[in-house]
Amino acid sequence: MSITVNPIPENERGSCPKELAFGAAFADHMFTQLYDDGLGWHDAVIGRFHDLKLSPAAAVLHYGQEIFEGMKAYRRPDGKVSFFRPDANIKRFNRSAARMVMPEVDEAVHLEALEKLISLDQKWVPSEPGSSLYIRPTMIATSPKLGLGAAKAYMHFIITSPVGPYFKEGLNPVSVYISDKYRRAVVGGVGEAKTGGNYAASLLVSEDVASKGYTQVLWLDAVEGRYAEEVGAMNVCFVYGGERVVTPSLSGSILPGITRDSVLKLAPHIGFEVEEARLDVNTILADIKAGKITEVFGCGTAAVISPIGRLCFKGEDYIINDNKAGPVAKKLYDSLTGIQYGTAEDPFNWVH
Ligand code: COI
Repeated sequence: MSITVNPIPENERGSCPKELAFGAAFADHMFTQLYDDGLGWHDAVIGRFHDLKLSPAAAVLHYGQEIFEGMKAYRRPDGKVSFFRPDANIKRFNRSAARMVMPEVDEAVHLEALEKLISLDQKWVPSEPGSSLYIRPTMIATSPKLGLGAAKAYMHFIITSPVGPYFKEGLNPVSVYISDKYRRAVVGGVGEAKTGGNYAASLLVSEDVASKGYTQVLWLDAVEGRYAEEVGAMNVCFVYGGERVVTPSLSGSILPGITRDSVLKLAPHIGFEVEEARLDVNTILADIKAGKITEVFGCGTAAVISPIGRLCFKGEDYIINDNKAGPVAKKLYDSLTGIQYGTAEDPFNWVH
């Protein structure tokens, strides 16, 4: 299937804002394709960014049958633009689709849509340090039907947004609250899938901890309320003795982050050990107190590497590395963004 490209006239195009909030402005074009049972995917078009026309009975609006991805396009020193591990994002998109009983997309069409869309909207890829064009592939169930069941019709679309750092803190540490009461996901549920409901379910506690001065929530497993899983919208890593990066093993309720996977591959390459383990919150907190854990950081596409300087559990604060960004997080951030922005070698062939 080929993609129809309908570029909008030059004089009707917008421009990249100077101040880059996260995900608040959108580039000129978007990609859409439709799926109908029997017909498969059809009508793949790149055209003007537009509002969607949707029945108020569309299944996505009632039962949340939707998935999304987050990836970025980076401006390189030679002015060219690249993607980071788009193949991994597309594969995860299709795994999420399978979990949510949605049709998989053709990987080649999805990649071609990304290439054509970003090439058309190249001027929206910012060049300020730390900025990028955030890409949001999404799929929604569009069948108008209130009976509960997998929909028969879907829309797959891709929009893009020029972004600066996800957290206003940048590489300065954020404060994180370990929730003793709320849980994010359960094994056998949809925690492994990138579906909107996981994020909607986190809002109540996020608002609650924000009012107490914390930026993110650290989620514990839903069965025992004991093992660290994720932090806010990111995976989480703990650094032991300034040299060993430990992250919760994929339990079935943790999102398999592409930044997490990149950290696990990159860290040994730049001199750190890595380990995936079940991490008991009480051990973590005791190890912070004893100075064995020297750094904690979150990692994800939007936030990249985000140091955590303070963890709160049951009313007690635990300060990590004097609430400063540590050397391991900084080195990982520099090495990863070096590859992403094309200022460093790419030994893993991640850049597209
Ligand atoms: C990402 O890191 O790309 C995400 O999807 C998280 C989102 C809440 C911004």
